[in-house]
Amino acid sequence: MSKIMLSGGRPTGKLHLGHYVGAFKTFADMQKDYDNYFIISDIHMLTTKSTKKEIDTIFENSLNMIIDAIGMGIDPKQTTFYLQSQIPYLSHIFGIFQNYVKLDRVNNTPSLVEMSKHSNQDEVSLGLVAYPVLEAADIFALKADIVPVGKDNIDHVVITQNIIKYINEEFGADFKIPDYITTDNNHIVGTDGSNKMSKSLDNAIYIRDSHEEVIRKVNNMKWVDSYENGLNVVMEYIKIFAPDQYECINNAYISNKLTERKAKDILIEVLDNLLTPMRERMKPYLEDREKVFELLYNGTKKVKTIADESMYELREAIGLVDLESHKRKLVKRNEN
Ligand code: TRP
Repeated sequence: MSKIMLSGGRPTGKLHLGHYVGAFKTFADMQKDYDNYFIISDIHMLTTKSTKKEIDTIFENSLNMIIDAIGMGIDPKQTTFYLQSQIPYLSHIFGIFQNYVKLDRVNNTPSLVEMSKHSNQDEVSLGLVAYPVLEAADIFALKADIVPVGKDNIDHVVITQNIIKYINEEFGADFKIPDYITTDNNHIVGTDGSNKMSKSLDNAIYIRDSHEEVIRKVNNMKWVDSYENGLNVVMEYIKIFAPDQYECINNAYISNKLTERKAKDILIEVLDNLLTPMRERMKPYLEDREKVFELLYNGTKKVKTIADESMYELREAIGLVDLESHKRKLVKRNEN
């Protein structure tokens, strides 16, 4: 049986090249070696975005996330997409797991500090503090072997490992200990040169951007004529998306033989080479959203069954009574 890989994301909006470089490229490269699941973690989204307006976007954003993921190379034939809020027993596992995590441990999670900064809530919610524990439930429910994560999410998997190790030890169980692999070893700056590409900073190139939008965004990039005068975003992007050509282009840049126009034209072509196959993969799904819905619907149904099973196993392992099986025993005894 092949090993299980679980990746995922919160349905907060359109995906961009930062997501591709920092996560999806790795998911796509790894998928052939695993049985793949992709969680759209809408309950996690609620930890920082929980207004009516925000919740109203979840369904459309979930479908869009699947389309973008397919664009970036996630093969829907090899990946089961599912929606977290529709898997009831995740909350149940989460509820049990919370008791095996100390508050101090989650309070120090680096991702929480980062997420609370981007939240429009004044104070950290209980849900946000418990974020890694819900993720532990996601991982446990799927019995994932490997979870690809960004560096600031490593701690979520470590917390998961610790919970499961503790349960194995205390109750003599043998639940699988998941491992992680980091996906964000490459980093891409925003089109404005700021450290992070993000929707809120309005400095992103989206997977869905048209040829014209890409041209506009590249042409708007600030040109810096030498490394001494600061970061040259155009060169940064060429380095990441055309590593084979970079050395040669960079030599021209350093020796002042590369004009701004020439560099931007190269980058536009490089980005088109990257995005054109993505656009082609997305096309049938953009034209038929019902098809996307079916992927999510069927995937979620499949995961529900898996999560049910995991919850029963957990309950049994730690010795919580199962009233249904007790009842069955009683009925049987009374029949005899
Ligand atoms: N925390 C992930 C994010 O950054 C989403 C997520 C939730 C996830 N549960 C997961 C990822 C389980 C991998 C495995 O949006």
